[in-house]
Amino acid sequence: METATSERIQTGTYTFKEVLHLRKSCRGFLRTPVPGDMITSVLEDAQMAPSNCNTQPWETHIVSGDKLKELSEALVRANKAGRLSPDFSFDTDEYHGRYQERYFNLAKTHYEGFGIKRDDREGRKEVSDLNYKFFNAPHLAIPFMPSFGDNVRVGGDIGMYGQTFLLSLTAHGLAGIPQTALGFFAGTIREILNVPGELKMLFGISFGYADPDAPGNSFRLGRDPLSHNVTFHP
Ligand SMILES: Cc1cc2nc3c(=O)[nH]c(=O)nc-3n(C[C@H](O)[C@H](O)[C@H](O)COP(=O)(O)O)c2cc1C
Repeated sequence: METATSERIQTGTYTFKEVLHLRKSCRGFLRTPVPGDMITSVLEDAQMAPSNCNTQPWETHIVSGDKLKELSEALVRANKAGRLSPDFSFDTDEYHGRYQERYFNLAKTHYEGFGIKRDDREGRKEVSDLNYKFFNAPHLAIPFMPSFGDNVRVGGDIGMYGQTFLLSLTAHGLAGIPQTALGFFAGTIREILNVPGELKMLFGISFGYADPDAPGNSFRLGRDPLSHNVTFHP
């Protein structure tokens, strides 16, 4: 599938299956900015995401240029100082059983891909900190969300929006990565972008053109067979 890629990027003629299978989280971008009309086209696609009661509860901010630099600097500082300000809790220790196994497999594949040894804590932290430099991406999208009840349903809506956005990036020959790591600093991000406190944040999506030579793009995560996830009731 990869050999057909460059020609199809030019013509934008991926099949739906190709888009699904080509998409992967990008952890190394070229600095080349994405033309504005292409960003608008991706946003128009993402706008088609379904949502509970068609509430369309995404308030999306696109950050580029000097503002992105300012945001990165603020995030690097907050991360260094351990000044977390998440809207929602997240603890990977809560994963158990097969979910925990998949998480461990991701961590192993991810750090090996970056050439980091398991016991190299400093190296692992350095790789993890790349989140706050947006993996060198020239743009960041943040779908902020209003708060309703326990926020589970609006969180689901934001997930639908995020995946539609990511698939559209792929269809446009672009790449992206959803980042919960950014949500750990929701307060800092709101402050820099002047976003009111009633809008919450789950994740951001760094996006742009993938750097094919970046170590962070040297691996691809697999998936379990259907039999592990699907139950048919005849
Ligand atoms: C909501 C969400 C948040 C994520 N947050 C991060 C993150 O903070 N940093 C990171 O490197 N990857 C993050 N990922 C990427 C996942 O690790 C990745 O989707 C998963 O390993 C499957 O790999 P793939 O996206 O390449 O298919 C996130 C994915 C999702 C869906």
